Amino acid sequence: MVEPGTSFRDFEHQGWSAEDLARGYHDHFSPITTQAIGALLDAAVGDCTRVVDVATGAGYAAAAAAGRGALAVGVDFSAPQLAAARRQHPGVEFRQGDAGALPFADRSFDALVSNFGMPHFPDPDAFLREAFRVLRGGGRLAFSCWAAPQESIGLGIVFSALQAHGRMDVPLPPGPNFFLFSDPAQCERSLEAAGFRSPVVTKVPQVWRVASPEAPFEAVMRGTVRTAALLRAQTPEALAAIRTAVREAASDHLREGAIELAMPAVVAAAEKP
Ligand SMILES: C[S@@+](CC[C@H](N)C(=O)[O-])C[C@H]1O[C@@H](n2cnc3c(N)ncnc32)[C@H](O)[C@@H]1O
Repeated sequence: MVEPGTSFRDFEHQGWSAEDLARGYHDHFSPITTQAIGALLDAAVGDCTRVVDVATGAGYAAAAAAGRGALAVGVDFSAPQLAAARRQHPGVEFRQGDAGALPFADRSFDALVSNFGMPHFPDPDAFLREAFRVLRGGGRLAFSCWAAPQESIGLGIVFSALQAHGRMDVPLPPGPNFFLFSDPAQCERSLEAAGFRSPVVTKVPQVWRVASPEAPFEAVMRGTVRTAALLRAQTPEALAAIRTAVREAASDHLREGAIELAMPAVVAAAEKP
């Protein structure tokens, strides 16, 4: 239950602060999101030394940047995510902080990355201004998010089932459209509005491999905040119909005993002049 009047930021913070959610995300979604990290680092990091990974989760991109020789720090506002990051990557620094008010001085970094953080920020443009502030001149930013639901099949089948059998107008704290930055033109507009130049937006193929057609519904229930809340707010009858529709749609992708769902990432990068 979400308390009436809860801000979108606090709603996300409460969700991501649950141990089970952090574990569910790691088990179900990190095998997809980590597929974008190579492209994300290629777009921003180069041979940079000081790199910050915002909304690091269990530290995936920060650890990969450190593996490339960078002095990397990961930032997240979720205590269980940070605990997992520190456990899994003891050689990397992790700090608790908010994407809208990064705990660093101006011009602290050569590169800033955020892998799938954008759809969770209450004010993505404020985050981009913060990114601009903490980067040095000539520093690079790269962020990723999901491609539109027509292309992100694994998420698309859940949203289609919700639209067909449930209600989208349930009372949740209002936040930016989850797929806002799936649109390359929006990425470019927001990057330029924050002061960045030469934005480049690419698409990175990613595949969600699941063992059973039940898995996408289970994954969304266990590893997401906003979409799981949308599902939990449905009537029991609607939820059962959504679950069945997701299972049937996922079954259509069964090939030789495995289900593979396209889940491309949009990767946007730009430079601070
Ligand atoms: C979808 S996960 C992405 C995790 C990871 N970067 C990856 O590659 O899979 C989103 C992460 O953003 C964090 N997050 C969401 N809003 C945030 C905010 N305003 N400030 C800092 N972290 C935030 C959550 O705690 C969560 O760990």
